[in-house]
Amino acid sequence: MMSDFLERLRACIGPAHVLTEAADIESFCTDWRGRYHGSALAVARPGTTEEVARVVLLAADARIPVVPQGGNTGMMGGATPSEDRSQLVVSLGRMNRVRRLDRDNATLTVEAGLTLAEVQNAAREAGMMFPLSLGSEGSCQIGGNLSTNAGGTAVLRYGNTRELVLGIEVVLPDGRVWDGLRGLRKDNTGYDLKQLFIGAEGTLGIITAAVLKLFPQPRSSVTALAAVGDPPAAVALLRLLRGRLGDRLTGFELISEVCTRLVQKHIPRTPDLLPGHPWYCLLQVDEPWPNAGLVTEVEAALAEAAQSGVAIDAVIAQSLKQAADMWRLRENISEAQRMEGPGIKHDISLPVSAIPQFLEQAGTSIQAALPGVRIVAFGHLGDGNLHYNLSRSDSADNDAVSARSKEITRIVHDLVHRYGGSISAEHGLGQSKRDEIKRYKDPLELDLMRRVKRAFDPHNLFNPGKVLDLS
Ligand code: FAD
Ligand code: MLT
Ligand code: ZN
Repeated sequence: MMSDFLERLRACIGPAHVLTEAADIESFCTDWRGRYHGSALAVARPGTTEEVARVVLLAADARIPVVPQGGNTGMMGGATPSEDRSQLVVSLGRMNRVRRLDRDNATLTVEAGLTLAEVQNAAREAGMMFPLSLGSEGSCQIGGNLSTNAGGTAVLRYGNTRELVLGIEVVLPDGRVWDGLRGLRKDNTGYDLKQLFIGAEGTLGIITAAVLKLFPQPRSSVTALAAVGDPPAAVALLRLLRGRLGDRLTGFELISEVCTRLVQKHIPRTPDLLPGHPWYCLLQVDEPWPNAGLVTEVEAALAEAAQSGVAIDAVIAQSLKQAADMWRLRENISEAQRMEGPGIKHDISLPVSAIPQFLEQAGTSIQAALPGVRIVAFGHLGDGNLHYNLSRSDSADNDAVSARSKEITRIVHDLVHRYGGSISAEHGLGQSKRDEIKRYKDPLELDLMRRVKRAFDPHNLFNPGKVLDLS
């Protein structure tokens, strides 16, 4: 039965694009963090939407579950197959064409397997910008970005992925292809169906292409790193800068001193720009037109912050390299943590105003539960998204920390819930939070999501075990 299926698969997309050898499929079966290890029946690498549809039909006929996969950088185990060699990973990496640039409509139609960096470059070459930006942009693919409704460092100004998409092409679990590749900013003709697939993490369909919004390229940019005494001061700085700069403030990241030390320890040539402060704010200010006075405006705002005691010190990047160094400091935190070994990660969102109290209360509760644990707190403060990760400085003890992750995560998530926040701001639920979400999500919402899932995928063949518990 399985050998027949594999034969039909090879006939459908070519034997070279059906991987079955353990060595060939291993990288597709382990997540980026090395937390989940699956074993797939095979990895199919279709090259066109028609091939994806045929693969899905073959799998549906054989009742073989399908796990869509992009760059495999997801943090929730959503792209990792089960361990029993019963599932087919469908990797979109070969579908990497730019289908259409429409300058006057300011849209770019791309296939799912383009990396985010390739999409950014295609927009840049057209003299425009696609603003989604993540530390994983060199590997993550736009199909995965849509499927996880990725956030990243420009949400403050441009929103999450779902706000950057006008149309999608999807292969449904029954093998039909929905061509929803419309580039319309207004289309009020019924339900906005694309939004069901964006953020569905591969459980409702395989996204094969998308129409993305393009934006004017920034012609004036200022990047700065400010040192602040505590999270309340960081929130006050955000408020001051937004008051002075409006939506030209496109990024505002919080970095604790613990993070800077981790990056300096693990990532060579990380400059130590403002040593010796407990917290830092990385800010990005952009304007779509030439404005030589922008840096003076930012200087004045930071001077006001210093005079009012909100900021302790600040450095404005004097070159593109220094600006890039500041962003590398921020974006290497994930990599530095991975090199430091396992820990307990949280990807939470709160009203920005609640973040200082949350950090205060969570710190007290966590230290009571895990005395001496290291709290690695950082993230997209501008949009209320914190990464609140726990580990031991002596990584030998990290197994002891990880062993208590359920209890510790419960403390963090219960507190987030009390503040009206979300236990998954941008990484999705995957398999990591499929059960945890039941504690916090309104049962009615879970019921509605299950009804949608059953309507699209009645045999539960698309990414079973992810996002929703259907039992
Ligand atoms: P994968 O990991 O391959 O898959 C993710 C999920 O999407 C899975 O459930 C999979 O089944 C599904 N999927 C993938 N492709 C498709 C498709 N074509 N159709 C349907 N379903 C599909 N995330 C953020 O939101 N913000 C960040 O700032 C951020 N920074 C990161 C930094 C680093 C260093 C790393 C390693 C990760 C970071 N991430 C971040 C997480 C991750 O990069 C994002 O979730 C990203 O969107 C995943 O894209 P991917 O192509 O790797 O998807
Ligand atoms: C980030 O903002 O760096 C990412 O979301 C990854 C992480 O949480 O480690
Ligand atoms: Zn993030």
